[in-house]
Amino acid sequence: MTEHRSPDTRFRTSLLEESDGPATNLTDNRTMGEIIATRFSRRGFLQGSLAVTAIAATVSPLALITADNARAAEGSAFTFDELEAGIDDKHHVAPGYDADVLLRWGDPLFADSPDFDPTKQSAEAQARQFGYNNDYVGYIPIDGSAEHGLLVVNHEYTNSHLMFPGIVKIVEKDGKKELEVAPLGKEQVDVEMAAHGGTVVEIRKEAGKWQVVRDGKLNRRITSNTEMQLSGPVAGNDRVKTSADPTGTKVIGTVNNCAGGVTPWGTYVMAEENIHGYFSGELPEGHKEVANYKRLAIPEGAYEWAAHYDRFDLGKEPNEPNRFGWIVEVDVNDPTSTPKKRTAMGRFKHEGAESIVAKDGRVVFYLGDDERFDYVYKFVTTGTFNPNDRAANMDLLDDGTLHVAKFAEDGSVEWLPVVFGQGPLTAENGFASQADVLIETRRAADLLGATKMDRPEDIQPNAVNGKVYVMLTNNSKRKADQVDAANPRAENAFGHIIEISEDGGDFTATKGKWEVLLKCGDPSVAEVGATFSTATTANGWFGMPDNCAVDSAGRLWVATDGQGPKATGRTDGLWAVDTEGAARATSKLFFRVPIGAEMCGPLFTPDDQTAFVAVQHPADGGEDWEPFGRPSYYEDLSTRWPDFKPDMPVRPSVVAITRQGGGKIAV
Ligand code: FEO
Ligand code: CA
Ligand code: CA
Repeated sequence: MTEHRSPDTRFRTSLLEESDGPATNLTDNRTMGEIIATRFSRRGFLQGSLAVTAIAATVSPLALITADNARAAEGSAFTFDELEAGIDDKHHVAPGYDADVLLRWGDPLFADSPDFDPTKQSAEAQARQFGYNNDYVGYIPIDGSAEHGLLVVNHEYTNSHLMFPGIVKIVEKDGKKELEVAPLGKEQVDVEMAAHGGTVVEIRKEAGKWQVVRDGKLNRRITSNTEMQLSGPVAGNDRVKTSADPTGTKVIGTVNNCAGGVTPWGTYVMAEENIHGYFSGELPEGHKEVANYKRLAIPEGAYEWAAHYDRFDLGKEPNEPNRFGWIVEVDVNDPTSTPKKRTAMGRFKHEGAESIVAKDGRVVFYLGDDERFDYVYKFVTTGTFNPNDRAANMDLLDDGTLHVAKFAEDGSVEWLPVVFGQGPLTAENGFASQADVLIETRRAADLLGATKMDRPEDIQPNAVNGKVYVMLTNNSKRKADQVDAANPRAENAFGHIIEISEDGGDFTATKGKWEVLLKCGDPSVAEVGATFSTATTANGWFGMPDNCAVDSAGRLWVATDGQGPKATGRTDGLWAVDTEGAARATSKLFFRVPIGAEMCGPLFTPDDQTAFVAVQHPADGGEDWEPFGRPSYYEDLSTRWPDFKPDMPVRPSVVAITRQGGGKIAV
């Protein structure tokens, strides 16, 4: 069965986030990324590095430009000594901290979990072990403790070329080296499905170090085969009925769980993001979902699941994609509970779902739709949060108002209700109910005139200063005539961060003000137009903001996705970003990932003494033959982090960062 893997796109899961829609910029102009790449190659960066050992030995050219490292930003909220930016095969944290690997792909979670053996991996084993490509990390205290709780972790996707032996070969054809990639067998597809989803696992800090409580009674794996319930306005709608589920309420599995959140009532919410990659096949001629699926680039066929499971084949189950692209809520207090897909929160490529309780007790969730030219949303519950009765909150997410953001040139933002019957969301435009509006949230937002953004990723409300931070990762396809005040750069290769202040400090407000906190990229390259403060060192700038966290003192920490040898000459990592006073827009490097990885997580425990970070897709360079002269794959990896054993592949892992000798991460 090779029809599900086209020969020119063999590592497609690596590129799912980048493969979103047709190129709109057809000019020959050099992209900003190419300008930067030229700059780094002029420095001879990584030249001659053909192996991991060579990378490790390479002296980072960034070391030559760090003389101003000691310069302190006046009024900065961060006093740690900055880490040096660079690229190698290991993780690094700022001096004075420990960064300990806590959970690796394949680690056992239950008493009966088999030990990880990458050469004999099975779906049964994987479903009892920590999954692949950890992304969102949340912490739910047990009995209010900051040292004993449940860690909840999303497993966004799988990279078969890094997970399975024998998939990739490099062959010589006509004197040229080429990749040969074997299709996956059903057993491997089953492992992939079991490696997706989420993990709930009890953890405890003992003598200053976090330990996994194997077989904790609430430990749980959620996978692409876990039964889920569709709830809210879309449940039971004809457009979500399938041959396996004529009720339109029972879905098997969740996919591409990117970022997420923990609700004020202690449930775990998982955002389904790049759902298009899992579907293959063709809709029946003239099917009514053609335009709906096109707006989400469904089917993309990056995975081979449809070869083995009809529900991922549009020709066989044309409604199945309408059952994905939701926010999933998990009651972690009951490991047998059925996760619920909360349809009131809209259907799109959900990045995350961070929330805050507003003054009147309603709960506000900020939601990004991560695609070039897509939107920023917020969901306001109809009911109010009851801090004294957890059960009373358990269906708050089924009833509320979804809004989409329209950013004006004058610095105001309006939150437009995405509600059937209001404005253009009527029968004339093909909507018969709120269910239709929610299934086609993107089209509804198009009609409302929402502002097309540069890939909205995490959005984090800050309870301390009342502001909201929106990570916009990049958009190299924005043309000069598409620039607007909230997306001010054409060919935005490095992204930016917007700060929103809701009117009256009320998170439920339908109007607010906004400003750009930071335009990212190398501030020493004038064409980039980055706006880091002058106190930001050569290590301190970054590109591609993606995930973020706010610690309990209200300080902003930004994690990145997409740096590397070509884009910025440094790996992804976690940067501390000042938002207040004279130090505003000063950034400082705290942690960086091994080569090929992106930085996910980040999360601070309630006592601010631990930062959990998730190292996702280490060693992945897609099909790029640079800079090693061959792509990185299972048998020939750019890093074998974190075990560094010749018989152990690279393993995405969650890392716990603590201060040596104890205390808060940042004081
Ligand atoms: Fe899965 Fe948009 O990051
Ligand atoms: Ca992300
Ligand atoms: Ca991303």
